[in-house]
Amino acid sequence: MKKRILSGVQPSGNLHIGNYLGALKNWVTLQKDYESFFCIVNLHAITLPQEPEKLKRKTLELARIYLAAGIDPKVSTIFVQSDVPEHAELAWVLTCISRMGELERMTQFKDKSKGKGESVGVGIFTYPVLMASDILLYKANLVPVGQDQKQHLELTRDLAERFNRDYGETFVIPEPYIPPVGAKIQSLQDPMKKMSKSDQDPNGSIFLLDDADVIRKKIKRAVTDSGTEVKFDKSRPAINNLLTIYQLVTDLPAEECENRFVGKGYGYFKTELAEAIIEFLRPFQQKVRSYDEQELIETLKSGAEKARSVACQTLREVYEKMGLNYAS
Ligand code: TYM
Repeated sequence: MKKRILSGVQPSGNLHIGNYLGALKNWVTLQKDYESFFCIVNLHAITLPQEPEKLKRKTLELARIYLAAGIDPKVSTIFVQSDVPEHAELAWVLTCISRMGELERMTQFKDKSKGKGESVGVGIFTYPVLMASDILLYKANLVPVGQDQKQHLELTRDLAERFNRDYGETFVIPEPYIPPVGAKIQSLQDPMKKMSKSDQDPNGSIFLLDDADVIRKKIKRAVTDSGTEVKFDKSRPAINNLLTIYQLVTDLPAEECENRFVGKGYGYFKTELAEAIIEFLRPFQQKVRSYDEQELIETLKSGAEKARSVACQTLREVYEKMGLNYAS
């Protein structure tokens, strides 16, 4: 029996190269060795207000992005979270075993609630519990994500252990898979901040659908550190970040990346980096528009059916253990 993975992306904002390098790229590799479930987490997206038509469009766009990145629907299950109602049902059960204190400690909640006082959405607060539900429903062994999701994974493990202890062995305790390189791609405008879909400044991110000229401009404008050497060096976060992106899009060893730029300045490096990103994204961008909408919807339908057949078994087991399946 193959081990399982589950991961997901929110269909909100525009996907950037950090999402690709920190998550999607690894999903494509891992799907060969794991039974894989890749979810479009639209119920997470509504923790912030969304325009219904736009959300629908973004959900399908994300399905195209999964396929164009190399997720193979014959091998992996691609589905939309809201098509599998068990996600919300298990989330309620897990909410009931969660503690205020552990959710208040989530750094993403702290960041997103800053300055909002009492008006902060409850969905933003309980968001990590829904994420735990996504993972535990499929008894996933491994969860490939970027660094920013690590704390949510720890909560997921705690909730699974608590449930197993109180109601009997049910959930698999999942491990995070956080890539050694690329787990935290930083903003091009502020290398102390992560590249983020919700960043107000589009120059901070390379979006997956940016065209070649936009990519050249954004890289040209990217901030650099003082000094001139193009080397991996954590004390120079801007150049370290750019060189990490270069390494990931070229798939070259770190040393070879540095060797290529010995004695060359930042200007030369930036030109090469922009061209490397454009080349990396080219096959993806050619494919992304090529899928027929009806076929895409069929893929999501059959993905949801497959996902549901697993999810409903886990939920039944949970209800049984808790004394909840009275009439069925
Ligand atoms: P989301 O939609 O914010 O991001 C999707 C994935 O991209 C990774 N990522 C990054 N990686 C490297 N550098 C960055 N700058 C960067 N920004 C984002 C994220 O770590 C993530 O892997 N809560 C999740 C979605 C989710 C989920 C799940 C993930 C819901 N349920 C179950 C795994 C399993 C989120 O908001 O990701």
